[in-house]
Amino acid sequence: MKRQPRSSPRSAKTQRTVSIIGTGSYVPEKILTNEDLSRMVDTTDEWITTRTGIKERRIAAKDEFTSDMATKAALKAIEQANITAAEIDLILVATATPDMLFPATACFVQKNIGATNAACLDISAACAGFLFGVEIAQQFITSHTHDTVLVIGADKLTSITNWTDRNTCVLFGDGAGAAILRHRGGAHGVISTHIGSDGQFTDILFMPGGGSRCPITAENVGHNLNTIHMSGKEVYKQAVIAMFSAAQKALQQAGLSIEDIACVIPHQANLRIIEGIADRLGIPLERFYVNLDRYGNTSAAAVAIALDEANRTGRIKAGDFVLMVVFGGGLTWASTVIEW
Ligand code: UT7
Repeated sequence: MKRQPRSSPRSAKTQRTVSIIGTGSYVPEKILTNEDLSRMVDTTDEWITTRTGIKERRIAAKDEFTSDMATKAALKAIEQANITAAEIDLILVATATPDMLFPATACFVQKNIGATNAACLDISAACAGFLFGVEIAQQFITSHTHDTVLVIGADKLTSITNWTDRNTCVLFGDGAGAAILRHRGGAHGVISTHIGSDGQFTDILFMPGGGSRCPITAENVGHNLNTIHMSGKEVYKQAVIAMFSAAQKALQQAGLSIEDIACVIPHQANLRIIEGIADRLGIPLERFYVNLDRYGNTSAAAVAIALDEANRTGRIKAGDFVLMVVFGGGLTWASTVIEW
């Protein structure tokens, strides 16, 4: 018999349940395979596949920006939700690769989709940003501040990739995923959320250049400070710890056990990280939705694209309990349990 989620302290004090009423995603057409990469840097398909699980990734065109991908994902989510753009009260874009430092990429999306009544802001929580957005949306909706929130995870990581660094350039890809959140009577919707950060680890995954510390100068660009810097092994270790703990916190708050979860949708960074979490949670890998073989790590977009694919392909069905869990630079991590 299906277990009922318990009223968590958070949901007990909230007035309204919050559901995802539409999802959408977009990835660029251009495919870069491991084979292609082996002609660019000293690597092999075998190394990339066994160390990461990635086979290919999508690359946005030069003139295709984060806001363009975000817009395409958003329009699909709006269509599925059967709402008009004018009904959107708030647009949140989680991204580490905004179109510009300002204005917010969310403002560009607003212009593109004609969401004239929305307030717009970007979320800087790296790969974990989409679920930070879900948490923020939930807070605004349950408090009756807003009714309809568009949350987008979008990144053009290939615009900040050092294509001569084999340690990082094989990992990333471009894309966007979106969700419309709204109160929907009767449904459980979002049951629990958990977000967290640890600023002690700002130096294991970061882009040093482009901000006030290290403005864009020819010299800084010459030193590749405008690209991703990462201590892969350390990030790997912290990722497993943070995602496992975040998953447990959201489950605990929901009053559910991992056995109740029909599908886990994790951040798509490395298949070995996902296997490590499956191991710790004590469930088979088949219970996870994985698409990193096709897209690589698309940062804030990854979990949002996976959610949309799982939704549209029937991998998650009405009434299923779904656990999403992510981590990223910061470090940041987040988890959400939803009754679909
Ligand atoms: O969204 C969060 C973003 N980041 C992540 O999630 C990354 C987390 N970390 C990882 O996924 C893994 O640590 C990596 C995939 C980045 C690396 O895997 P690893 O098993 O930790 O490998 P390693 O860094 O220990 O490197 C092993 C060897 C090294 O050679 P030596 O020093 O043992 O001779 C590397 O130089 O593999 C070498 N190597 C490569 N060889 C072929 C590193 N990158 C490559 C490559 N092709 N692309």
